[in-house]
Amino acid sequence: MKVAVVGATGMVGEVMLKVLAERNFPVTELIPVASERSVGKTITYKGNDYKVVGLETAVAMRPDIALFSAGGDTSLEWAPKFAEVGTTVVDNSSAWRMDPSKKLVVPEINASELTKEDKIIANPNCSTIQLVMALAPLHKAYTMKRVIVSTYQSVSGTGVKAVRQLENEIAGIEGEMAYPYPIGRNALPHCDVFQDNGYTKEEMKLAREPQKILNDNTFSVSATAVRIPTAGGHSESVNVEFEKDFDLSEVRKLLSQTPGVVVQDNTDTNTYPMPIYAHDKDEVFVGRIRRDETQPNTLNMWIVADNLRKGAATNTIQIAEYLIENELV
Ligand SMILES: NC(=O)c1ccc[n+]([C@@H]2O[C@H](COP(=O)([O-])OP(=O)(O)OC[C@H]3O[C@@H](n4cnc5c(N)ncnc54)[C@H](OP(=O)(O)O)[C@@H]3O)[C@@H](O)[C@H]2O)c1
Repeated sequence: MKVAVVGATGMVGEVMLKVLAERNFPVTELIPVASERSVGKTITYKGNDYKVVGLETAVAMRPDIALFSAGGDTSLEWAPKFAEVGTTVVDNSSAWRMDPSKKLVVPEINASELTKEDKIIANPNCSTIQLVMALAPLHKAYTMKRVIVSTYQSVSGTGVKAVRQLENEIAGIEGEMAYPYPIGRNALPHCDVFQDNGYTKEEMKLAREPQKILNDNTFSVSATAVRIPTAGGHSESVNVEFEKDFDLSEVRKLLSQTPGVVVQDNTDTNTYPMPIYAHDKDEVFVGRIRRDETQPNTLNMWIVADNLRKGAATNTIQIAEYLIENELV
């Protein structure tokens, strides 16, 4: 496969190169792509050096697959140009996620929807992916009515500039700000931009994307997204009301039998998921599983995953692997 990585110099792009190498993705030719600022820079992949090229050059090289993580505007403009030359694009930005003509895919849940005709495929938001990975098996068993989620999101979810802001603050250096306020020793109830309804764009992604992925709009999601000074993983406090009642040990069993999900739940040994241990892992970790004692059929849990891996790079590459395995590309 001739593979273009668009945004190869960014946070997600770097992890993409790492995951491609780790999983031995069948790359015959790698095309690292970034903005004009980075053209000519060297990227190392599996011990070989590659020069970063611009988007125009990359389209002319007609890759089989292009993995995009270069922001929504780049995707809106360039994904169709790649698709036109026959490239299948898997896009990490929010540009195509809610477009009714595009599939929004978490491979463990709905990869079977993909066909050869899908030339632009959307990767869900990082917070959405870890949420639906845990919700999907429970929805199947008990039918969700309403989900309330509060997130505790890592600065790496904003990109290189935000990680640098936190590092500068820790080192006491004045530098460029990615956020309107300091992030060290702080919590910002503000991820992405505010919308007219008072929610942020991130919160609305969490409200809408799960319905599309699970192909069901009979449940609703209400979200509060908060940025915290962690560097490698998003956490979520999740409250789910179901139609049917559940048994807690059955919930734990269902989740532990779900591919890609790991249950870490033992209060006797202080075992629960934490970003520090989810960092650099592909799995979604679930713990603090308990009954909400204030109303019937309601569950509380805590979900953690590495936003740059399962939340972005790994999920994208799993989609690409599915396309290859099923001869859809
Ligand atoms: N971070 C996460 O957890 C996460 C998770 C899921 C999805 N995403 C999405 O993935 C995308 C990238 O996020 P990130 O965190 O990796 O951001 P980032 O660290 O800021 O990196 C952005 C990348 O995009 C490239 N780029 C920017 N403008 C470009 C242009 N006009 N043409 C070509 N390349 C351009 C940059 O190249 P230069 O180095 O040349 O500027 C860089 O490689 C965003 O759409 C984001 O929403 C991020």
